Amino acid sequence: MWQLENMEKSITFIQNMPKVELHLHIEGTLEPEMMMQLSKQNGVEIPYLTIEEIRKAYQFSDLQSFLDIYYAGAKVLLHEDDFFDLTFAYLQKMHQENCRHVEIFFDPQTHTSRGVPIKIVINGISNALKKGKEEFGISSHLILSFLRHLSEEDAIKTLNEALPYKDKITAVGLDSSEKGNPPSKFISVFELARKEGLLTLAHAGEEGPAGYIWQAIQELHISRIDHGVHCSEDANLIDYLEKTRLPLTVCPLSNVKLRVFDTVEQHNIKELLDQGLCVTVNSDDPAYFGGYLTENYIAIAKGLHLKPQDILKLASNSIEASFLSQEEKGDLQAELEECYNSVISRDSY
Ligand code: ADE
Ligand code: ZN
Repeated sequence: MWQLENMEKSITFIQNMPKVELHLHIEGTLEPEMMMQLSKQNGVEIPYLTIEEIRKAYQFSDLQSFLDIYYAGAKVLLHEDDFFDLTFAYLQKMHQENCRHVEIFFDPQTHTSRGVPIKIVINGISNALKKGKEEFGISSHLILSFLRHLSEEDAIKTLNEALPYKDKITAVGLDSSEKGNPPSKFISVFELARKEGLLTLAHAGEEGPAGYIWQAIQELHISRIDHGVHCSEDANLIDYLEKTRLPLTVCPLSNVKLRVFDTVEQHNIKELLDQGLCVTVNSDDPAYFGGYLTENYIAIAKGLHLKPQDILKLASNSIEASFLSQEEKGDLQAELEECYNSVISRDSY
């Protein structure tokens, strides 16, 4: 009973606290309803007859089995309005979850390879981000992510196409099939991006080894690691991450859906938090993995028996790890603390 009441309090805290999302692929917010609607509207065939059929297809055995379905789904996105509507629908959900700041990825090559100009993609997404700020007060940064299964030449071509819109982009990232596509494949394009004043991020240690995380740090000079859960294989790396507080954007429901961990109970985020790492909670591709930000927090709170202080630390880490200014971080940290004090009475744990 005591435990049940306290879990209820933790869930209320999760629902009410001001949140920050740092690892979200905008194409991964394409809900089956919108996919079906755009398929009909744009005359793009998808291999499903009903929304239920789409949902049923979302059973994955690993990262690649997900990516195949995810890239096929993204084909329905053609026009600037499609990218706008996709992004604004995500921001509406985030507003309902009291999310205050988002740093989102987009994969231009998924669209330019189908003949959709990068301008259409960037304008659609960034106009929705602007409206999200005006209507909901949600601040944002946009991150251009390179597909690592393609060549570095293709990434360089994509970076050059994006440079006229550089004012709308904060950082470059690296995603898609990790195994066999190490960060070292992209040293030159990341160097070019840094010379243009862009920050750098990379997915590393999702399915790949701890060595890929070292490469991302040493060769791509990243500001955060996306996923990074395989860091636990390497004690020196844990030590480095603890000392530097280089953040990890962890995505619990994604990791379970893609079988990085068999169950939430086996996830290592609590262990990494206890080791002093700057781990954060994120949703990755929520339309495919069964939950947005709040659901990710609730899943680990229940599955890993998190204390309210653990939840507070995770939410605070996200503010610390964001690209917000020091002043904005301070304001949000104070609000988070206030929410914690009002929902969780100090003597309950
Ligand atoms: N693209 C979208 N989601 C991804 C993930 N979890 N890993 C790598 N690439 C992705
Ligand atoms: Zn991701």
